Amino acid sequence: MTAEDPVKKPDLQGRPEIVKLVNTFYDRVRADAVLGHIFDQVAQTNWETHLPKMYAFWETVMFRSGGFTGNPLAAHAKLVALTDMGRDKFDHWLKLFCGTVDDLFVGEHADHIKNCAADMANVIFSRINQVPDPRFDPANLTPEQRERYARYKSQPQPATP
Ligand code: HEM
Repeated sequence: MTAEDPVKKPDLQGRPEIVKLVNTFYDRVRADAVLGHIFDQVAQTNWETHLPKMYAFWETVMFRSGGFTGNPLAAHAKLVALTDMGRDKFDHWLKLFCGTVDDLFVGEHADHIKNCAADMANVIFSRINQVPDPRFDPANLTPEQRERYARYKSQPQPATP
């Protein structure tokens, strides 16, 4: 291999890569001027429990094997009363997360985890701030989705945590 050959990055395959991604991402989050204080000062996160919870979360999302049983909406809804959890914060979180994925991994699973993160950032942001989810903007819906969403909206909704 010559100096010019890029070293091929691996794809996410399972738990070991999830652990590496989560550890690297939260090292960056803690050092980040926009997000670090939300964990260390506002939520006073216990990293010894939060990191294993996040390994389980992402393993469950990606490989259905992590055994995650938390409540992400409630965890973030609590923060709204304590700090700004606006769109800029979520965009910044997403940029940091996707940048970390890109620095470490390449491939189908790497692309998938970035898409999942973007979807969940949309859901969490819109639910905790009571703003419409852009995925359900009528302008973006197919007729079939519009019909399904109308049915969903007419059902009684569970109380927001
Ligand atoms: C502005 C962006 C975000 C901020 C500031 C943020 C911050 C936090 C904080 C402070 C906690 C609680 C940690 C503790 O227990 O002390 C938490 C929990 C968590 N976050 Fe986020 N978060 C953000 C976005 C996201 C996104 C987009 C996802 C998913 C892709 C996510 C997934 C989770 C999960 C799964 C938990 C654990 C929930 C539980 O305890 O059941 N977060 N987050």
